[in-house]
Amino acid sequence: MKVLYTVGELRSVVDSAIQAGQSIGLVPTMGALHAGHMSLVDTARAQNDIVVTSVFVNPTQFNNPTDLSTYPRTEDADCALLQEHGVDYAFVPSVEEIYPEPDTRIFDLGAVAAVMEGAMRPGHFNGVAQVVSKLFAMVRPTRAYFGEKDFQQIAVIRRMVEIEGFDVEIVACPIKREIDGLALSSRNVRLTPEGRAQAPAIHRVLEQSRVMVPGHTPAEVKRWVVEHIDTAGGLETEYYEIADALTMQPVEDWTSTNGVVGCVTVYCGDVRLIDNILYTQPK
Ligand code: PAF
Repeated sequence: MKVLYTVGELRSVVDSAIQAGQSIGLVPTMGALHAGHMSLVDTARAQNDIVVTSVFVNPTQFNNPTDLSTYPRTEDADCALLQEHGVDYAFVPSVEEIYPEPDTRIFDLGAVAAVMEGAMRPGHFNGVAQVVSKLFAMVRPTRAYFGEKDFQQIAVIRRMVEIEGFDVEIVACPIKREIDGLALSSRNVRLTPEGRAQAPAIHRVLEQSRVMVPGHTPAEVKRWVVEHIDTAGGLETEYYEIADALTMQPVEDWTSTNGVVGCVTVYCGDVRLIDNILYTQPK
C-alpha cells in the first residue's frame, strides 16, 4: 500500500488507473478506524480493481470546536490496518491540501438535510457535502462506500451526487456491532467503563420496539423508545425520529414504499452516540 499525502500524487495514480480501464472504489473516512470501516474496505476490495481510502478529519463538518479537537487521530494504526486489508492507496491529506482556500460553497441539499442531524448540527451536512464532493472530483471513483450507521448522511450524499452530477455508485454498507449490540463508532473509545456497559441499551430498546409496529403508530413507538432509553440508566435521548428511509421526513404510518427507519442520537455522559433501525424494508 502506498500512502499519498498530496492531491498531485493522488491525481497521478487515479489518471493511470482510469487510463488502464480499472474500476476505483473509494472509502472516505475520518480515521480512528475500526471493524466498521474495515467492512467497508473489504466490500470495496471485493468489488473494485483499485481501492483508495481517504483519512481526513474534515474541519468544515464540525460545528463544535471541542468535538473537532477531541476527535481521535490514529494515523499510524489506521495505515497499518488499511495495509492489512489490501488497500492500494491511503490518501492522508492535510487541511491545506483539501482546502487551499476556504470552501464557501453552499449546497442545496433540500429537505433531506434539514431534519434530525441537519437540525441539530447546523452546517454539518454542508461540510460533509463539501469534502465528499472534493474527494469525488479528485478520486473519480466508480463506487463509494458509506456505513449505514450514518443513515441520513447516505441520503444527503445521494442528494449531493444528484445535484453535482457525479457518475458514481453509492454503496450503503450495514452497521457493524459489538457482541452486545453497541454500534461500532470512533467515539466509543471515549465512553467510561460505566458508559460502555450502559450504551448497548440503545440497540436493545430499538430492537424491542420492532414488535410494536403492528398495532401502534410511529408516534406511539417513538414515545416508547425515548422513555425506555431515558430510563435504562446513564443515557439521554437527544432525538428519536421515525422517518421515510429515502426522504428522511417524519412519517405518520408505516406504509412508505421507501421503507421506514428510526434514527436516534443519545448522550452517554458527554459522548454523543448515533444508531438506527429499519422497521420496514423498501418495496
Ligand atoms: O462518515 C464520515 O466519517 C464522514 O462524514 C465522511 C463521509 C468521511 C466525510 O468526512
